[in-house]
Amino acid sequence: MEGHRRVVCGATQVIGLLAFIFLFYTQSFSFDPINFLLRKESSLKWNETMVEVGVFEENQQSSFKSLLRDDDLRTLETIGLACNSATGSLVCVTTEPVKIDTTTMEIYLPTRPDPPNPNRNFSVNEDGKIIQLIRPYSWHQSDILKAITPVKFLREPPQQTPPRRCDFHHKVPALVFSSGVFAGNIFHEFNEIIIPLYLTSRSFRSRIQFILVDFNPIFVAKFNRIFSSLSDFEVLNPNSNTNVCCFHGSIVGLKFHSFLSINSSEIPKGNSMIEFKEFLGKTYDLKIENASISVSKPPVLLLISRRKTRRFLNEDEMVEMMEGLGFEVVVVKSSKTMSDLDRFSKLVRTCDVLVGAHGAGLTNQVFLAPSAVVVQVVPLGLEWPSAVYYGEPAVRMGLRYLEYRVGPDESSLMDSYARADPVISDPGSVFAKGYFIGKEMYLDKQNIRLDIGRFKSTMVEALRLIGRTTPLST
Ligand SMILES: *[C@@H]1O[C@H](CO)[C@@H](O)[C@H](O)[C@H]1NC(C)=O
Ligand SMILES: *[C@@H]1O[C@H](CO)[C@@H](O)[C@H](O)[C@H]1NC(C)=O
Ligand SMILES: *[C@@H]1O[C@H](CO)[C@@H](O)[C@H](O)[C@H]1NC(C)=O
Ligand SMILES: *[C@@H]1O[C@H](CO)[C@@H](O)[C@H](O)[C@H]1NC(C)=O
Repeated sequence: MEGHRRVVCGATQVIGLLAFIFLFYTQSFSFDPINFLLRKESSLKWNETMVEVGVFEENQQSSFKSLLRDDDLRTLETIGLACNSATGSLVCVTTEPVKIDTTTMEIYLPTRPDPPNPNRNFSVNEDGKIIQLIRPYSWHQSDILKAITPVKFLREPPQQTPPRRCDFHHKVPALVFSSGVFAGNIFHEFNEIIIPLYLTSRSFRSRIQFILVDFNPIFVAKFNRIFSSLSDFEVLNPNSNTNVCCFHGSIVGLKFHSFLSINSSEIPKGNSMIEFKEFLGKTYDLKIENASISVSKPPVLLLISRRKTRRFLNEDEMVEMMEGLGFEVVVVKSSKTMSDLDRFSKLVRTCDVLVGAHGAGLTNQVFLAPSAVVVQVVPLGLEWPSAVYYGEPAVRMGLRYLEYRVGPDESSLMDSYARADPVISDPGSVFAKGYFIGKEMYLDKQNIRLDIGRFKSTMVEALRLIGRTTPLST
Protein backbone atom coordinates (compact mmCIF):
# COMPACT_ATOMS: atom_id res chain seq x y z
CA MET A 1 0.00 0.00 0.00
CA GLU A 2 2.79 2.37 0.92
CA GLY A 3 4.25 1.89 -2.49
CA HIS A 4 0.92 2.93 -3.99
CA ARG A 5 0.67 6.11 -1.95
CA ARG A 6 4.15 7.10 -2.90
CA VAL A 7 3.24 6.71 -6.54
CA VAL A 8 0.06 8.77 -6.11
CA CYS A 9 1.97 11.38 -4.18
CA GLY A 10 4.61 11.49 -6.83
CA ALA A 11 1.85 11.83 -9.39
CA THR A 12 0.46 15.01 -7.82
CA GLN A 13 3.84 16.66 -7.95
CA VAL A 14 4.33 15.42 -11.45
CA ILE A 15 0.98 16.89 -12.50
CA GLY A 16 1.93 20.29 -11.02
CA LEU A 17 5.14 20.20 -12.98
CA LEU A 18 3.30 19.00 -16.06
CA ALA A 19 0.94 21.97 -15.89
CA PHE A 20 3.99 24.20 -16.07
CA ILE A 21 5.61 22.24 -18.87
CA PHE A 22 2.26 22.19 -20.67
CA LEU A 23 2.05 25.99 -20.61
CA PHE A 24 5.65 26.28 -21.66
CA TYR A 25 5.28 23.87 -24.55
CA THR A 26 2.01 25.22 -25.88
CA GLN A 27 3.57 28.68 -25.90
CA SER A 28 6.80 27.67 -27.55
CA PHE A 29 6.15 25.01 -30.17
CA SER A 30 3.67 22.52 -31.45
CA PHE A 31 3.03 19.75 -29.01
CA ASP A 32 0.19 17.39 -28.24
CA PRO A 33 -0.44 18.00 -24.52
CA ILE A 34 -3.32 15.52 -24.23
CA ASN A 35 -1.21 12.71 -25.55
CA PHE A 36 1.67 13.76 -23.35
CA LEU A 37 -0.47 13.68 -20.20
CA LEU A 38 -2.05 10.38 -21.17
CA ARG A 39 1.33 8.81 -21.63
CA LYS A 40 2.61 10.02 -18.30
CA GLU A 41 -0.52 8.71 -16.66
CA SER A 42 -0.23 5.32 -18.26
CA SER A 43 3.41 4.94 -17.33
CA LEU A 44 2.55 5.60 -13.68
CA LYS A 45 -0.26 3.09 -13.79
CA TRP A 46 1.97 0.54 -15.41
CA ASN A 47 3.83 -0.02 -12.17
CA GLU A 48 0.82 -0.23 -9.90
CA THR A 49 0.41 -3.94 -9.45
CA MET A 50 -2.98 -5.30 -10.40
CA VAL A 51 -4.31 -1.94 -11.51
CA GLU A 52 -6.29 -2.38 -14.67
CA VAL A 53 -4.91 -0.32 -17.48
CA GLY A 54 -7.30 1.05 -20.06
CA VAL A 55 -10.95 0.39 -20.72
CA PHE A 56 -11.97 -2.66 -22.69
CA GLU A 57 -14.01 -1.78 -25.70
CA GLU A 58 -16.35 -4.33 -27.24
CA ASN A 59 -15.98 -2.87 -30.70
CA GLN A 60 -12.36 -4.03 -30.73
CA GLN A 61 -13.70 -7.36 -31.98
CA SER A 62 -14.14 -5.82 -35.41
CA SER A 63 -10.59 -4.46 -35.34
CA PHE A 64 -9.24 -7.96 -34.69
CA LYS A 65 -11.40 -9.37 -37.44
CA SER A 66 -10.24 -6.80 -39.97
CA LEU A 67 -6.83 -8.49 -39.84
CA LEU A 68 -8.19 -11.85 -40.95
CA ARG A 69 -9.87 -13.38 -43.97
CA ASP A 70 -13.20 -15.17 -43.84
CA ASP A 71 -11.73 -18.65 -43.53
CA ASP A 72 -9.38 -17.44 -40.75
CA LEU A 73 -12.43 -16.15 -38.87
CA ARG A 74 -13.85 -19.68 -38.74
CA THR A 75 -10.54 -20.94 -37.32
CA LEU A 76 -10.59 -18.13 -34.79
CA GLU A 77 -14.04 -19.20 -33.62
CA THR A 78 -13.14 -22.86 -33.47
CA ILE A 79 -9.77 -22.80 -31.77
CA GLY A 80 -9.42 -19.23 -30.55
CA LEU A 81 -6.30 -18.50 -32.59
CA ALA A 82 -5.94 -17.72 -36.28
CA CYS A 83 -2.91 -16.86 -38.34
CA ASN A 84 -2.82 -15.26 -41.76
CA SER A 85 0.07 -14.98 -44.16
CA ALA A 86 -1.81 -13.62 -47.16
CA THR A 87 0.81 -11.14 -48.36
CA GLY A 88 3.88 -12.94 -47.08
CA SER A 89 4.08 -11.81 -43.47
CA LEU A 90 2.60 -14.04 -40.81
CA VAL A 91 0.22 -12.42 -38.32
CA CYS A 92 -1.53 -14.35 -35.55
CA VAL A 93 -4.62 -13.12 -33.78
CA THR A 94 -6.45 -14.28 -30.68
CA THR A 95 -9.44 -12.55 -29.14
CA GLU A 96 -9.35 -14.67 -26.00
CA PRO A 97 -7.86 -13.45 -22.73
CA VAL A 98 -4.16 -14.28 -22.80
CA LYS A 99 -1.31 -14.43 -20.31
CA ILE A 100 2.01 -13.29 -21.76
CA ASP A 101 5.14 -14.38 -19.96
CA THR A 102 7.52 -11.60 -20.96
CA THR A 103 10.58 -13.62 -19.92
CA THR A 104 9.99 -16.42 -22.40
CA MET A 105 7.59 -14.61 -24.78
CA GLU A 106 5.15 -17.47 -24.34
CA ILE A 107 1.51 -16.54 -24.81
CA TYR A 108 -0.95 -18.74 -22.96
CA LEU A 109 -4.46 -19.18 -24.29
CA PRO A 110 -7.15 -20.38 -21.89
CA THR A 111 -7.82 -24.10 -21.59
CA ARG A 112 -10.60 -25.18 -23.94
CA PRO A 113 -12.74 -28.24 -24.38
CA ASP A 114 -11.87 -30.28 -27.46
CA PRO A 115 -13.22 -28.25 -30.39
CA PRO A 116 -15.88 -29.97 -32.50
CA ASN A 117 -14.10 -29.17 -35.78
CA PRO A 118 -12.43 -32.36 -37.05
CA ASN A 119 -10.12 -30.31 -39.30
CA ARG A 120 -8.32 -28.79 -36.35
CA ASN A 121 -4.59 -28.99 -36.62
CA PHE A 122 -3.80 -29.83 -33.01
CA SER A 123 -5.41 -31.51 -30.09
CA VAL A 124 -6.15 -29.82 -26.80
CA ASN A 125 -4.78 -32.99 -25.24
CA GLU A 126 -1.44 -31.50 -26.12
CA ASP A 127 -1.95 -28.72 -23.60
CA GLY A 128 1.27 -27.06 -22.66
CA LYS A 129 2.81 -27.66 -26.08
CA ILE A 130 3.51 -24.95 -28.57
CA ILE A 131 0.62 -24.61 -31.00
CA GLN A 132 2.11 -21.81 -33.04
CA LEU A 133 5.55 -20.26 -33.19
CA ILE A 134 6.01 -16.94 -34.92
CA ARG A 135 8.92 -14.57 -35.42
CA PRO A 136 7.17 -11.20 -35.56
CA TYR A 137 8.99 -9.41 -38.37
CA SER A 138 7.31 -8.57 -41.63
CA TRP A 139 10.22 -9.28 -43.99
CA HIS A 140 10.00 -13.04 -44.24
CA GLN A 141 13.44 -14.00 -45.38
CA SER A 142 14.93 -16.90 -43.48
CA ASP A 143 18.31 -15.27 -42.78
CA ILE A 144 16.60 -12.21 -41.29
CA LEU A 145 13.99 -14.19 -39.39
CA LYS A 146 16.65 -16.29 -37.69
CA ALA A 147 17.68 -13.20 -35.71
CA ILE A 148 14.14 -12.37 -34.56
CA THR A 149 12.99 -13.49 -31.10
CA PRO A 150 10.35 -16.20 -31.46
CA VAL A 151 6.96 -15.81 -29.79
CA LYS A 152 5.07 -18.97 -28.88
CA PHE A 153 1.38 -19.61 -28.45
CA LEU A 154 0.49 -22.38 -26.02
CA ARG A 155 -2.67 -23.56 -24.35
CA GLU A 156 -2.53 -23.42 -20.59
CA PRO A 157 -2.61 -26.94 -19.15
CA PRO A 158 -5.71 -27.42 -16.97
CA GLN A 159 -3.68 -29.23 -14.32
CA GLN A 160 -1.27 -26.31 -13.97
CA THR A 161 -0.77 -25.75 -10.22
CA PRO A 162 -0.69 -23.10 -9.11
CA PRO A 163 -2.20 -21.40 -12.17
CA ARG A 164 -0.06 -18.74 -13.78
CA ARG A 165 -0.81 -15.48 -11.99
CA CYS A 166 -1.27 -12.19 -13.77
CA ASP A 167 1.14 -9.58 -12.44
CA PHE A 168 -0.58 -6.94 -14.55
CA HIS A 169 -4.07 -6.84 -16.02
CA HIS A 170 -4.59 -4.83 -19.17
CA LYS A 171 -8.04 -4.24 -20.52
CA VAL A 172 -6.64 -3.70 -24.00
CA PRO A 173 -5.06 -6.14 -26.46
CA ALA A 174 -1.32 -6.59 -26.90
CA LEU A 175 0.48 -6.20 -30.22
CA VAL A 176 3.83 -7.99 -30.29
CA PHE A 177 6.43 -7.07 -32.92
CA SER A 178 10.21 -6.87 -33.28
CA SER A 179 12.49 -3.90 -33.91
CA GLY A 180 14.37 -6.16 -36.27
CA VAL A 181 17.92 -6.29 -37.50
CA PHE A 182 18.32 -3.15 -39.64
CA ALA A 183 18.70 -0.60 -36.86
CA GLY A 184 19.05 2.93 -38.20
CA ASN A 185 18.14 2.19 -41.82
CA ILE A 186 15.08 4.35 -42.44
CA PHE A 187 13.95 2.33 -45.45
CA HIS A 188 13.74 -0.86 -43.45
CA GLU A 189 12.29 0.97 -40.46
CA PHE A 190 9.37 2.36 -42.48
CA ASN A 191 9.00 -0.57 -44.84
CA GLU A 192 9.01 -3.43 -42.37
CA ILE A 193 7.94 -1.84 -39.10
CA ILE A 194 6.31 1.60 -39.19
CA ILE A 195 3.94 1.21 -42.17
CA PRO A 196 3.07 -2.38 -41.13
CA LEU A 197 2.50 -1.18 -37.55
CA TYR A 198 0.18 1.54 -38.81
CA LEU A 199 -1.73 -1.02 -40.89
CA THR A 200 -2.02 -3.50 -38.05
CA SER A 201 -2.84 -1.20 -35.15
CA ARG A 202 -4.65 1.80 -36.63
CA SER A 203 -8.18 0.48 -36.19
CA PHE A 204 -7.66 -0.08 -32.44
CA ARG A 205 -7.62 3.71 -32.07
CA SER A 206 -4.74 3.72 -29.57
CA ARG A 207 -6.39 1.21 -27.20
CA ILE A 208 -3.56 -1.25 -27.67
CA GLN A 209 -0.33 -2.07 -25.81
CA PHE A 210 2.77 -2.50 -27.99
CA ILE A 211 5.28 -5.12 -26.84
CA LEU A 212 8.57 -4.77 -28.71
CA VAL A 213 10.81 -7.82 -28.76
CA ASP A 214 14.48 -7.32 -29.68
CA PHE A 215 13.85 -3.94 -28.06
CA ASN A 216 16.10 -1.26 -29.51
CA PRO A 217 15.95 1.94 -27.42
CA ILE A 218 17.36 4.12 -30.22
CA PHE A 219 14.65 2.91 -32.57
CA VAL A 220 11.97 3.55 -29.93
CA ALA A 221 13.25 7.07 -29.29
CA LYS A 222 13.45 7.82 -33.02
CA PHE A 223 9.84 6.81 -33.71
CA ASN A 224 8.40 7.82 -30.35
CA ARG A 225 5.91 10.23 -31.91
CA ILE A 226 4.50 7.52 -34.12
CA PHE A 227 4.18 5.09 -31.23
CA SER A 228 2.35 7.67 -29.14
CA SER A 229 0.04 8.46 -32.05
CA LEU A 230 -0.90 4.81 -32.37
CA SER A 231 -1.01 3.75 -28.72
CA ASP A 232 -1.98 5.36 -25.43
CA PHE A 233 0.68 3.33 -23.62
CA GLU A 234 4.44 3.34 -23.56
CA VAL A 235 6.11 0.66 -25.66
CA LEU A 236 6.82 -2.31 -23.41
CA ASN A 237 10.27 -3.84 -23.35
CA PRO A 238 9.84 -7.50 -22.39
CA ASN A 239 13.47 -7.75 -21.23
CA SER A 240 12.95 -5.19 -18.50
CA ASN A 241 9.59 -6.58 -17.38
CA THR A 242 9.91 -10.11 -16.11
CA ASN A 243 6.23 -10.52 -15.48
CA VAL A 244 3.15 -12.31 -16.59
CA CYS A 245 0.97 -9.67 -18.24
CA CYS A 246 -2.65 -10.37 -19.03
CA PHE A 247 -4.43 -8.90 -22.02
CA HIS A 248 -7.79 -8.97 -23.74
CA GLY A 249 -6.52 -10.68 -26.84
CA SER A 250 -3.29 -10.35 -28.72
CA ILE A 251 -1.84 -9.88 -32.16
CA VAL A 252 1.63 -11.13 -32.98
CA GLY A 253 3.38 -9.91 -36.13
CA LEU A 254 2.64 -7.01 -38.47
CA LYS A 255 0.68 -6.85 -41.72
CA PHE A 256 2.82 -6.12 -44.77
CA HIS A 257 1.42 -5.32 -48.20
CA SER A 258 4.22 -4.19 -50.46
CA PHE A 259 7.42 -2.09 -50.42
CA LEU A 260 6.62 1.28 -48.79
CA SER A 261 3.06 0.69 -49.91
CA ILE A 262 -0.42 -0.04 -48.69
CA ASN A 263 -2.90 -1.85 -50.94
CA SER A 264 -6.45 -0.87 -50.05
CA SER A 265 -7.83 -4.20 -51.35
CA GLU A 266 -5.67 -6.27 -49.01
CA ILE A 267 -6.63 -6.89 -45.38
CA PRO A 268 -7.03 -4.81 -43.31
CA LYS A 269 -8.98 -3.27 -46.20
CA GLY A 270 -9.50 0.36 -46.95
CA ASN A 271 -6.15 1.83 -45.90
CA SER A 272 -3.94 3.80 -48.27
CA MET A 273 -0.56 5.51 -48.42
CA ILE A 274 -2.33 8.83 -48.93
CA GLU A 275 -3.90 8.36 -45.48
CA PHE A 276 -0.61 7.18 -44.04
CA LYS A 277 1.04 10.38 -45.27
CA GLU A 278 -1.76 12.41 -43.70
CA PHE A 279 -1.25 10.49 -40.48
CA LEU A 280 2.48 11.36 -40.58
CA GLY A 281 1.57 14.98 -41.28
CA LYS A 282 -0.58 15.11 -38.14
CA THR A 283 1.89 13.13 -36.05
CA TYR A 284 4.85 15.36 -36.93
CA ASP A 285 2.74 18.48 -37.08
CA LEU A 286 3.62 19.18 -40.70
CA LYS A 287 1.97 21.98 -42.63
CA ILE A 288 -0.97 20.87 -44.72
CA GLU A 289 -0.59 23.24 -47.65
CA ASN A 290 1.68 22.49 -50.58
CA ALA A 291 5.32 23.41 -50.40
CA SER A 292 5.60 26.37 -52.72
CA ILE A 293 2.24 28.05 -52.98
CA SER A 294 4.00 31.35 -53.37
CA VAL A 295 5.71 31.76 -56.70
CA SER A 296 7.68 34.70 -55.32
CA LYS A 297 9.88 32.30 -53.30
CA PRO A 298 12.45 30.13 -55.07
CA PRO A 299 11.52 26.44 -55.21
CA VAL A 300 13.41 24.38 -52.62
CA LEU A 301 15.34 21.29 -53.65
CA LEU A 302 16.55 18.78 -51.08
CA LEU A 303 19.62 16.87 -52.25
CA ILE A 304 20.42 13.72 -50.30
CA SER A 305 24.17 13.42 -50.31
CA ARG A 306 25.21 9.85 -49.57
CA ARG A 307 28.61 9.62 -47.89
CA LYS A 308 29.82 6.04 -48.25
CA THR A 309 28.40 4.33 -51.31
CA ARG A 310 26.61 5.61 -54.43
CA ARG A 311 28.18 9.03 -53.81
CA PHE A 312 27.81 11.90 -56.26
CA LEU A 313 31.42 12.61 -57.29
CA ASN A 314 30.62 15.98 -58.86
CA GLU A 315 28.11 17.20 -56.35
CA ASP A 316 29.37 20.80 -56.45
CA GLU A 317 28.67 21.01 -60.18
CA MET A 318 25.22 19.51 -59.64
CA VAL A 319 24.38 22.13 -57.02
CA GLU A 320 25.69 24.91 -59.26
CA MET A 321 23.48 23.74 -62.15
CA MET A 322 20.42 23.43 -59.86
CA GLU A 323 20.98 26.89 -58.42
CA GLY A 324 21.38 28.19 -61.96
CA LEU A 325 17.87 26.90 -62.68
CA GLY A 326 16.53 28.91 -59.74
CA PHE A 327 16.39 26.25 -57.03
CA GLU A 328 17.32 26.94 -53.46
CA VAL A 329 19.37 23.80 -52.82
CA VAL A 330 19.56 22.18 -49.39
CA VAL A 331 22.24 19.48 -49.22
CA VAL A 332 21.85 16.95 -46.43
CA LYS A 333 24.89 14.85 -45.70
CA SER A 334 24.58 13.75 -42.14
CA SER A 335 22.63 10.67 -41.19
CA LYS A 336 22.34 12.20 -37.72
CA THR A 337 20.39 15.13 -39.19
CA MET A 338 18.13 12.74 -41.04
CA SER A 339 17.45 10.54 -38.01
CA ASP A 340 16.06 13.45 -35.98
CA LEU A 341 12.64 12.96 -37.52
CA ASP A 342 10.96 15.75 -35.55
CA ARG A 343 13.13 18.32 -37.29
CA PHE A 344 13.95 16.58 -40.53
CA SER A 345 10.32 15.79 -41.42
CA LYS A 346 9.57 19.52 -41.21
CA LEU A 347 12.48 20.34 -43.51
CA VAL A 348 11.38 17.70 -46.04
CA ARG A 349 7.85 19.08 -45.95
CA THR A 350 9.04 22.50 -47.11
CA CYS A 351 10.81 21.07 -50.19
CA ASP A 352 9.36 21.01 -53.68
CA VAL A 353 11.82 18.50 -55.08
CA LEU A 354 13.70 15.62 -53.43
CA VAL A 355 16.78 14.38 -55.31
CA GLY A 356 18.90 11.39 -54.38
CA ALA A 357 20.71 8.33 -55.67
CA HIS A 358 18.94 5.02 -55.06
CA GLY A 359 19.13 4.46 -51.31
CA ALA A 360 17.38 4.63 -47.96
CA GLY A 361 17.39 8.45 -47.82
CA LEU A 362 14.67 8.47 -50.49
CA THR A 363 12.33 6.96 -47.91
CA ASN A 364 11.92 10.54 -46.69
CA GLN A 365 9.46 10.96 -49.55
CA VAL A 366 6.84 9.92 -47.00
CA PHE A 367 7.19 13.41 -45.48
CA LEU A 368 6.91 15.38 -48.75
CA ALA A 369 3.98 17.64 -49.50
CA PRO A 370 1.46 16.11 -51.92
CA SER A 371 2.57 18.37 -54.78
CA ALA A 372 6.28 17.51 -54.52
CA VAL A 373 8.49 15.72 -57.04
CA VAL A 374 10.88 12.85 -56.33
CA VAL A 375 13.91 12.47 -58.58
CA GLN A 376 15.76 9.19 -58.22
CA VAL A 377 19.20 8.79 -59.73
CA VAL A 378 19.44 5.13 -60.70
CA PRO A 379 22.98 3.75 -60.71
CA LEU A 380 24.06 1.07 -63.14
CA GLY A 381 22.42 -2.31 -62.51
CA LEU A 382 19.87 -1.03 -59.99
CA GLU A 383 16.82 -0.40 -62.18
CA TRP A 384 14.69 -3.06 -60.53
CA PRO A 385 15.17 -2.15 -56.86
CA SER A 386 14.94 1.55 -57.74
CA ALA A 387 11.53 1.11 -59.32
CA VAL A 388 10.17 -1.31 -56.73
CA TYR A 389 11.47 0.28 -53.50
CA TYR A 390 11.05 3.98 -54.28
CA GLY A 391 9.67 4.75 -57.77
CA GLU A 392 6.38 2.85 -57.68
CA PRO A 393 5.77 3.72 -54.00
CA ALA A 394 6.26 7.44 -54.77
CA VAL A 395 3.54 7.28 -57.41
CA ARG A 396 1.20 5.34 -55.10
CA MET A 397 1.73 8.04 -52.46
CA GLY A 398 0.44 10.58 -54.95
CA LEU A 399 3.83 12.18 -55.59
CA ARG A 400 5.28 13.00 -58.99
CA TYR A 401 8.27 10.82 -59.84
CA LEU A 402 11.18 11.21 -62.24
CA GLU A 403 13.96 8.73 -62.83
CA TYR A 404 17.42 9.51 -64.12
CA ARG A 405 19.27 6.40 -65.25
CA VAL A 406 23.02 6.60 -65.01
CA GLY A 407 24.84 5.64 -68.20
CA PRO A 408 28.10 3.61 -68.20
CA ASP A 409 30.20 6.78 -68.55
CA GLU A 410 28.63 8.22 -65.39
CA SER A 411 29.38 5.17 -63.25
CA SER A 412 32.65 4.86 -61.32
CA LEU A 413 32.68 1.19 -62.29
CA MET A 414 34.01 2.38 -65.69
CA ASP A 415 37.26 3.26 -63.86
CA SER A 416 37.81 -0.44 -63.15
CA TYR A 417 36.04 -2.30 -65.95
CA ALA A 418 36.11 -2.09 -69.72
CA ARG A 419 32.93 -1.02 -71.49
CA ALA A 420 32.57 -4.53 -72.93
CA ASP A 421 32.95 -6.20 -69.55
CA PRO A 422 29.70 -7.85 -68.39
CA VAL A 423 29.92 -5.72 -65.22
CA ILE A 424 29.18 -2.71 -67.42
CA SER A 425 27.30 -4.22 -70.32
CA ASP A 426 25.20 -6.84 -68.54
CA PRO A 427 24.65 -6.25 -64.80
CA GLY A 428 21.92 -8.90 -64.82
CA SER A 429 24.60 -11.53 -65.42
CA VAL A 430 26.46 -10.35 -62.30
CA PHE A 431 23.34 -10.55 -60.13
CA ALA A 432 22.71 -13.99 -61.65
CA LYS A 433 25.89 -15.20 -59.92
CA GLY A 434 24.29 -14.42 -56.57
CA TYR A 435 22.51 -11.53 -54.91
CA PHE A 436 25.45 -10.65 -52.66
CA ILE A 437 27.89 -10.55 -55.58
CA GLY A 438 25.58 -8.12 -57.39
CA LYS A 439 24.97 -6.12 -54.22
CA GLU A 440 28.67 -5.68 -53.56
CA MET A 441 29.34 -4.57 -57.12
CA TYR A 442 26.47 -2.16 -57.75
CA LEU A 443 25.27 -1.07 -54.32
CA ASP A 444 28.53 -1.01 -52.38
CA LYS A 445 31.30 -0.30 -54.92
CA GLN A 446 29.65 2.18 -57.25
CA ASN A 447 29.80 5.99 -57.22
CA ILE A 448 28.28 8.41 -59.72
CA ARG A 449 29.71 11.26 -61.81
CA LEU A 450 26.63 12.80 -63.40
CA ASP A 451 26.58 14.20 -66.92
CA ILE A 452 25.45 17.67 -65.83
CA GLY A 453 24.06 18.58 -69.26
CA ARG A 454 21.88 15.49 -69.46
CA PHE A 455 20.81 15.70 -65.81
CA LYS A 456 19.83 19.32 -66.33
CA SER A 457 16.91 18.31 -68.55
CA THR A 458 15.55 16.12 -65.74
CA MET A 459 15.76 19.12 -63.41
CA VAL A 460 13.98 21.31 -65.96
CA GLU A 461 11.23 18.69 -66.12
CA ALA A 462 11.00 18.74 -62.29
CA LEU A 463 10.60 22.53 -62.43
CA ARG A 464 7.83 22.16 -64.98
CA LEU A 465 6.02 19.61 -62.76
CA ILE A 466 5.95 22.03 -59.83
CA GLY A 467 4.57 24.73 -62.09
CA ARG A 468 7.74 26.76 -62.53
CA THR A 469 9.62 27.67 -65.63
CA THR A 470 13.32 27.94 -66.22
CA PRO A 471 14.70 31.43 -65.61
CA LEU A 472 15.20 33.21 -68.95
CA SER A 473 18.82 33.89 -68.12
CA THR A 474 19.79 30.20 -68.36
C1 LIG B 1 7.78 -0.68 -9.60
O1 LIG B 1 7.59 -0.38 -8.23
C2 LIG B 1 8.38 -1.15 -7.38
C3 LIG B 1 8.00 -0.83 -5.92
O2 LIG B 1 7.25 0.36 -5.84
C4 LIG B 1 9.86 -0.89 -7.67
O3 LIG B 1 10.67 -1.70 -6.82
C5 LIG B 1 10.15 -1.23 -9.12
O4 LIG B 1 11.49 -0.91 -9.44
C6 LIG B 1 9.21 -0.47 -10.04
N1 LIG B 1 9.42 -0.92 -11.42
C7 LIG B 1 9.49 -0.11 -12.44
C8 LIG B 1 9.65 -0.75 -13.77
O5 LIG B 1 9.44 1.12 -12.34
C1 LIG C 1 -0.55 -28.21 -39.18
O1 LIG C 1 0.64 -28.10 -38.41
C2 LIG C 1 1.75 -28.69 -39.03
C3 LIG C 1 2.93 -28.62 -38.07
O2 LIG C 1 2.96 -27.42 -37.38
C4 LIG C 1 2.04 -27.96 -40.35
O3 LIG C 1 3.14 -28.53 -41.01
C5 LIG C 1 0.80 -28.02 -41.23
O4 LIG C 1 1.01 -27.26 -42.40
C6 LIG C 1 -0.41 -27.51 -40.51
N1 LIG C 1 -1.60 -27.70 -41.30
C7 LIG C 1 -2.55 -26.76 -41.48
C8 LIG C 1 -3.72 -27.16 -42.29
O5 LIG C 1 -2.45 -25.64 -40.99
C1 LIG D 1 -3.75 -5.11 -54.44
O1 LIG D 1 -4.36 -6.27 -53.95
C2 LIG D 1 -5.26 -6.89 -54.87
C3 LIG D 1 -5.96 -8.01 -54.12
O2 LIG D 1 -5.04 -8.91 -53.57
C4 LIG D 1 -4.45 -7.36 -56.06
O3 LIG D 1 -5.31 -7.97 -57.00
C5 LIG D 1 -3.75 -6.17 -56.69
O4 LIG D 1 -2.91 -6.59 -57.74
C6 LIG D 1 -2.90 -5.43 -55.65
N1 LIG D 1 -2.40 -4.22 -56.22
C7 LIG D 1 -1.09 -3.91 -56.24
C8 LIG D 1 -0.73 -2.61 -56.86
O5 LIG D 1 -0.24 -4.66 -55.79
C1 LIG E 1 -1.54 20.51 -53.43
O1 LIG E 1 -1.15 19.98 -54.66
C2 LIG E 1 -1.94 18.90 -55.09
C3 LIG E 1 -1.31 18.32 -56.34
O2 LIG E 1 -0.84 19.32 -57.19
C4 LIG E 1 -3.36 19.43 -55.32
O3 LIG E 1 -4.18 18.37 -55.75
C5 LIG E 1 -3.89 19.99 -54.01
O4 LIG E 1 -5.17 20.55 -54.22
C6 LIG E 1 -2.95 21.06 -53.47
N1 LIG E 1 -3.37 21.44 -52.14
C7 LIG E 1 -3.40 22.71 -51.72
C8 LIG E 1 -3.84 22.96 -50.32
O5 LIG E 1 -3.08 23.65 -52.45
